Amino acid sequence: MFEERARGLEFLDAPDSDPHLTEEGYRFMKLVNRIGGGTPAVREFLTAELGDHPRDRPVRILDIGVGGGDIPLSIMRWARRRGYRVEFTCVDFNDKALEMTQSAIDRSGGEGIKLVQADIFQYQPVGDFDYAIGSMVFHHFTNDEIHRLVAHLCGFVRRALLINDLHRNLLNYLICSILVIPLDREIRHDARLSIRRGFKPTELRTILQEHDPAAVVTRSWFSRVAGVVRFDRKGGE
Ligand SMILES: C[S@@+](CC[C@H](N)C(=O)[O-])C[C@H]1O[C@@H](n2cnc3c(N)ncnc32)[C@H](O)[C@@H]1O
Repeated sequence: MFEERARGLEFLDAPDSDPHLTEEGYRFMKLVNRIGGGTPAVREFLTAELGDHPRDRPVRILDIGVGGGDIPLSIMRWARRRGYRVEFTCVDFNDKALEMTQSAIDRSGGEGIKLVQADIFQYQPVGDFDYAIGSMVFHHFTNDEIHRLVAHLCGFVRRALLINDLHRNLLNYLICSILVIPLDREIRHDARLSIRRGFKPTELRTILQEHDPAAVVTRSWFSRVAGVVRFDRKGGE
């Protein structure tokens, strides 16, 4: 059951998925990000990357598939406390994702987060980004699509891409199956399938090393894999 990535589709894969279910799904993801290591994985990545980044120079980050927006909002607070000027551009094709993220931004009085409704495969930004982050979004793509997306991002992300996704194993599947018991059938389906579409560190490393032979993939906290592809190895800034 966990030997290979599952292929089925999640309800959330449709850009026009049922808004009520989508909202419930994003609320569940927020919990998963908090207790399952999703947000800490991004903080860890940025801590390693931003060590000597000048505080007066903005850090431009592309968030791919923003969902309910809890990760960029949490990272903005974290960055502000450390004096970094972070500017997020968050791309998602789902109406509900943008609506929920916008109201979370409004509630927090947040600045520095721009929302864009687009399919990431078609997205062409005006300017470049320092980093791209994909949290629980790469498991939505086939291995061929991941290759295509990394090549696409290479055109406008200068430093590195973080893939922050689910570790496909029995323990995660069992924990997830327990956590979703009180939720709707569709959310239970999507959450369990997400784990089965997730990654083993070695297989994600094999995919990413086609783009960056030194790509690093590690286990992060208990439920995540974190893969980093560098675009700046060949004498970039
Ligand atoms: C599982 S959610 C993860 C949300 C958020 N990043 C998090 O970690 O909580 C995946 C998100 O990616 C979005 N998504 C999937 N495929 C996409 C695509 N091709 N272009 C833009 N957004 C996409 C979905 O609409 C959804 O909001």
